[in-house]
Amino acid sequence: MEQRFSGKCALVTGAAQGIGRAVALRLAGEGADVVVADIDAEKAEPVCGQITAMGRSCRLVAVDLAVIDSIREMVEQSIEFLGRIDMFVNCAGIVHNTPLLQITQEDWDRVINVNQRAVAFCTRFVGRHMVDRVPDDVKAQGRSTVSYGKIVNFSSISGRRGRPLQIHYAASKAAVISLTQSAALAFAPYNINVNAVSPGPVRTRMWDVNVVEKGRIFGRDAEKEAEQFIELVPLKRAGTVDDMAAAVAFLCSSDADFITGQTLNVDGGFEMG
Ligand SMILES: NC(=O)c1ccc[n+]([C@@H]2O[C@H](COP(=O)([O-])OP(=O)(O)OC[C@H]3O[C@@H](n4cnc5c(N)ncnc54)[C@H](O)[C@@H]3O)[C@@H](O)[C@H]2O)c1
Repeated sequence: MEQRFSGKCALVTGAAQGIGRAVALRLAGEGADVVVADIDAEKAEPVCGQITAMGRSCRLVAVDLAVIDSIREMVEQSIEFLGRIDMFVNCAGIVHNTPLLQITQEDWDRVINVNQRAVAFCTRFVGRHMVDRVPDDVKAQGRSTVSYGKIVNFSSISGRRGRPLQIHYAASKAAVISLTQSAALAFAPYNINVNAVSPGPVRTRMWDVNVVEKGRIFGRDAEKEAEQFIELVPLKRAGTVDDMAAAVAFLCSSDADFITGQTLNVDGGFEMG
């Protein structure tokens, strides 16, 4: 495998499983040292073991992204371990389906806090660290030829249009698109790129939760629900976690140095806006 991230340091949230796990392994496979951050420390432990077995440094940081102090501690611990953060990938997320007329404040807060507020505060704390690394003379010029970091967030096809069973999830993922644009503009003077990936269906635990909840609401079989959805994808398949990790690796690489503020659809052609 190419070693595009040799000597680089990455913090990946939601890295215990699914897309985040694939991203952490991909960045490590290309040479990065990695902090694996997740609320599920038990599941994250073997991911850390795999990365260490590749000969890379890895530390597990337990974090609850719904709590702002926990985000701050995650970033502090990551900097302490890695020395610096060159790449920050925000994969953690939760999904929940409920009819619009039945949504509660608790449903709303849970999803928004993890999927939206956490992205804002991760960007704030990681961004502070990345900007602090920029020398004063470069700051004064307001432009830099050296890259001071790459940030990649996760949106969703649900953030691209209305979802009556997911008003909180869809709103949070639309907000990620906006947060990504705002952060890209805020950090552009320091040559810090901020982009997002917008996956279509990917068979992970989140996908299972999604189809089971929808199947229950409609009184339909979950697997049929999944198959019908995948039929709507022009390339006629679900995405894989490796499809997502490849897109993240591209956005973190120097090949994407002139790309910022973008949300890249990695969805088999489901959305084309
Ligand atoms: N799987 C899909 O079909 C799909 C589609 C579109 C977008 N996405 C997005 O991709 C990202 C990754 O999804 P996935 O499919 O890998 O999900 P997943 O459920 O497999 O993994 C999500 C990870 O986030 C962690 N997490 C959840 N709440 C947390 C919290 N409060 N603090 C810290 N960690 C927490 C979980 O423990 C888990 O390890 C998410 O942002 C999701 O919204 C996924």
